[in-house]
Amino acid sequence: MSENARVSVVTGGALGIGGAISRRLAAGGDLVILNDIDADAAARTSAGIEAAGGRCVTVIGDIVEDETVERVVAAVPGRVDVLVNNVGDFRPAAPSFQDSTPDQWQRLYELNLLHVFKLTHALLPMMIEQRSGSIVNNSTVEAFRGIPGHPVYSAFNAGVSAFTRSLAVAVGRHGVRVNAIAPDLANTEQTPVEWMRRGYDEGLEHTWVPLARFGEPDDYAAVVGFLASDDARFVTGHTIPVDGGTLAASGWFVRADDQGWTNRPHRA
Ligand SMILES: NC(=O)c1ccc[n+]([C@@H]2O[C@H](COP(=O)([O-])OP(=O)(O)OC[C@H]3O[C@@H](n4cnc5c(N)ncnc54)[C@H](O)[C@@H]3O)[C@@H](O)[C@H]2O)c1
Repeated sequence: MSENARVSVVTGGALGIGGAISRRLAAGGDLVILNDIDADAAARTSAGIEAAGGRCVTVIGDIVEDETVERVVAAVPGRVDVLVNNVGDFRPAAPSFQDSTPDQWQRLYELNLLHVFKLTHALLPMMIEQRSGSIVNNSTVEAFRGIPGHPVYSAFNAGVSAFTRSLAVAVGRHGVRVNAIAPDLANTEQTPVEWMRRGYDEGLEHTWVPLARFGEPDDYAAVVGFLASDDARFVTGHTIPVDGGTLAASGWFVRADDQGWTNRPHRA
């Protein structure tokens, strides 16, 4: 590692968006502290990074657990420049809010919001002491747009974006920036294209995504890379949608018969 290499922590850094973030930051010269609950996947991603000439240390464990947070902090070699709180999941899911249970709400809280507080709380003092650091959280477009089947997931991710804003205001004068991304429609292990398409004809992506395709993990990692970098030195407190334009369209769809746009259900 060169003397100037950044130290970057990525949670859920093995697969999906997190995997692409780990690879991107390592390719830029960062030492990546990669936390993941899936030991095999973490070993594969770490091996790929090292084969490409990068540096990676894995910390295996559920980031919701205090003991995992402590091991991540212990793996940090005296400074931390970038923290990417990437872990999040819409599961456990229920058919409706009426069917959901307090145990499910608790796990959604832990997976989407609680660990963001825990790891940020553990690493922020080091960033403040250094007078520099960039925190990038992973929220979702559903923090800003309703998702009828997942109101609890949506609520906790709105919490991630609110936390991002407020913490940014509080720590800016210490040289620490806090931002987030809000993904939609990422082709990952959690939401593979085949699952997202569920009965929709291939070739109709342009009817619901303005950029006419699903997102690939690198699309999201690129924005995280920007937010973590000095190019974003005057950007803090924001959640940047990375969604191919779905939030801008906000419920407007190209008609399947290509006869203009609709915001109403219609028969093709
Ligand atoms: N996939 C999408 O379309 C989409 C949309 C909006 C928001 N997001 C958000 O983006 C983030 C990444 O999503 P993804 O689709 O890449 O997820 P994914 O499930 O494909 O990958 C998540 C990674 O995190 C790891 N992980 C899961 N739980 C963990 C835990 N408790 N502790 C440590 N590691 C854990 C997994 O092993 C995996 O490597 C999440 O916060 C998700 O809510 C994704």
